[in-house]
Amino acid sequence: MNDAFTPRPEHHFTFGLWTVGNRGRDPFGREVRPPLDPVETVHRLADLGAYGVSFHDDDLVPEGSGRQEKEAIVKRFRSALDATGLKVPMATTNLFSHPVFKDGAFTANDPEVRRLAVAKTLDAIDLGVELGARVYVLWGGREGVEADAAKDPVVALDRYAEALNLLCSYVRDRGYDLRLAIEPKPNEPRGHLYLPTIGHALAFIEQLEWPEMVGVNPEFAHETMSGLSFHQGVAQALRAGKLFHIDLNGQSPGKYDQDFRFGSEGIRDAFFLVKLLEDAHWDGMRHFDSHAYRTEDPDGVWEFAAASMRTYLILADKARRFAEDPEIQEALAAAKADRLAEPTSPEGTTPEAIASLRQQVEQKRSDPTWLDALAQQGYHHERLDQLVMELLLGVR
Ligand code: GCO
Ligand code: MN
Ligand code: MN
Repeated sequence: MNDAFTPRPEHHFTFGLWTVGNRGRDPFGREVRPPLDPVETVHRLADLGAYGVSFHDDDLVPEGSGRQEKEAIVKRFRSALDATGLKVPMATTNLFSHPVFKDGAFTANDPEVRRLAVAKTLDAIDLGVELGARVYVLWGGREGVEADAAKDPVVALDRYAEALNLLCSYVRDRGYDLRLAIEPKPNEPRGHLYLPTIGHALAFIEQLEWPEMVGVNPEFAHETMSGLSFHQGVAQALRAGKLFHIDLNGQSPGKYDQDFRFGSEGIRDAFFLVKLLEDAHWDGMRHFDSHAYRTEDPDGVWEFAAASMRTYLILADKARRFAEDPEIQEALAAAKADRLAEPTSPEGTTPEAIASLRQQVEQKRSDPTWLDALAQQGYHHERLDQLVMELLLGVR
């Protein structure tokens, strides 16, 4: 199908090798799909109109590969990138699969494990940069705990910060054009993970040695697992200039990390997220960190990938219609949505400005009808919300 919702490279859609390459293993059942060659992934994604591909070190170069093997794999992968024009905007490290990381990586109690984690990440940063990555994602896979007595949570965060400072120092020393993005998650695979939400990560970043080098990679599923509004968290990251990357997928609140196809769950939050990114002209990658249902064969995986991008473009079109719809604009005016941009104290924050604000309120209060009139006004959110609903349901 070639229509207004057909993805093109300029839309900046990207997928992880591990996403379309997910073989459907879960805690209760084994793999249902054959392994996918990263070179085939590159060709398939390019054919579908994606812009790029991302990977964990081990997705591309299997653990235990020798130097020559690694060189051959990277060479073959690079030829596929060159042949298709697909880019590698982001890379990351697998610090969770190997049993050595069962007590965490940067926050493992054993310093030897922590040193290994840092060294593995430095190797993976080199590999990512070699292939063009400009963002490096740090998802704290097993940075957390089940037995609370086993780890001092304050000291664990000290070690987490130390690891990030080491990575930043290395990137600076090498002169790499690379920013780091922390990916928050509340739990899974550990009972409790450190830096569980966007807000926790944003506060943590400010206490690092080079806070300007570090931002966030929020994931739809992860905030939603905690019952939080994803797009509102993303808005806070955007406002702070910290939205370096984003993981798009589908998730219903309170459940295990589903990583479903973008838009398949939480369609309203998905719409407000797309609207937020598009209205802000955010220039980052629209990265899908999701996988096909376990029911799918290899063909179903490519249907899943195409549909992820298509849904984003449909929602972007809805966001444009939202802005152009006269009835929606009227309802927004009734809700006084535009007036939120008006400063509370137009004269500023000086003591004089505060005195003037108080005086104005005093004056208004001397009119006995003023307070009642303010309290009694309706904002007509019901009408506005229903209009959004009808826009999403396709009847306007
Ligand atoms: C998850 C995480 C991971 C990370 C990935 C990149 O769903 O558990 O989102 O998929 O994003 O490992 O670091
Ligand atoms: Mn996830
Ligand atoms: Mn993710």
